[in-house]
Amino acid sequence: MNHNTTQEPTLVLAGTGKIGRRVVERLTARGLPVRVGSRSGEPPFDWDDRSTWAPALKGVGSAYVAHHWDALPGAAETMGSFAELAVERGVPRLVLMSGRGEEEAERGQQAVRDSGADLTILRSTWFAQNFSEDYWREMVQAGDVALPAGATPEPFVDAEDIADVAVAALTDDRHIGELYELTGPRLLTFADAVEEISEAVGREVRYVPVSIEDFAATSLEQGVPSELVEMLSLIFDEVLDGRNARLADGVQRALGREPRDFGDYVRAAAATGIWNATATRAA
Ligand SMILES: NC(=O)c1ccc[n+]([C@@H]2O[C@H](COP(=O)([O-])OP(=O)(O)OC[C@H]3O[C@@H](n4cnc5c(N)ncnc54)[C@H](OP(=O)(O)O)[C@@H]3O)[C@@H](O)[C@H]2O)c1
Repeated sequence: MNHNTTQEPTLVLAGTGKIGRRVVERLTARGLPVRVGSRSGEPPFDWDDRSTWAPALKGVGSAYVAHHWDALPGAAETMGSFAELAVERGVPRLVLMSGRGEEEAERGQQAVRDSGADLTILRSTWFAQNFSEDYWREMVQAGDVALPAGATPEPFVDAEDIADVAVAALTDDRHIGELYELTGPRLLTFADAVEEISEAVGREVRYVPVSIEDFAATSLEQGVPSELVEMLSLIFDEVLDGRNARLADGVQRALGREPRDFGDYVRAAAATGIWNATATRAA
């Protein structure tokens, strides 16, 4: 069913990240060859160094495409240029991982579509795993999750579901042309989400709504990279106006099953000890 019949490797960009590494694990478990695309990959892939793009594409049959700053200005053009190169180099089968509701991310989706690639688009809401595998984990450990997220409900989606959809798309050409909007099955405010985490870990963890300015200043003080702070500030400012406060059916359409509930994610993550004050390993 996959037009990559020659068992050429799949290039997985952001292949060391929250979604990419799960895609790599799943493809590898199926015995499918993979090339991890990241700055530490072999060959290295760097979005900021175009000379690395063609070597990373050489000999691959398909690519999972994710830009680390897809909401920041300029990312759309960069992603479009990469997709054009991929098509030109004989790698038209692309699965694009991107954001939901951010203007630049959606411009990026269009730029990749304009390349003429055989494309599947994954348009995702906030990952549940931001609470356990990214730096929000430290906020949970400290007991105060201070984010500029107001009281807008969001349908947090599980990274495991996103990776399942990505792998389904990479291995079955029937997904070409589809745009899957990926959400979990329930709308939760950040306060609701943190309360569920607090209950699961059995100690007080509070959601503390802060201004975007305070969030950015504190994050920078704590050593969070400035581009990440810039991107998160932009996303918090842009998408938490209610535009994403609705469920979508991308997981169901792609996989024929329901998405995993946030509560199941929380219980499993809590059981690993990841939110204990001394934990360091990602769940
Ligand atoms: N987190 C969310 O809630 C969320 C929601 C919707 C959409 N998204 C989007 O999903 C995509 C993937 O996010 P993620 O959370 O899975 O990633 P992540 O866990 O933050 O990992 C980032 C990845 O990008 C790679 N990377 C960083 N700088 C790079 C560069 N200059 N060139 C090439 N690779 C680079 C990193 O690898 P190296 O450091 O090894 O290079 C790593 O594999 C992003 O576009 C993000 O905006 C995220």
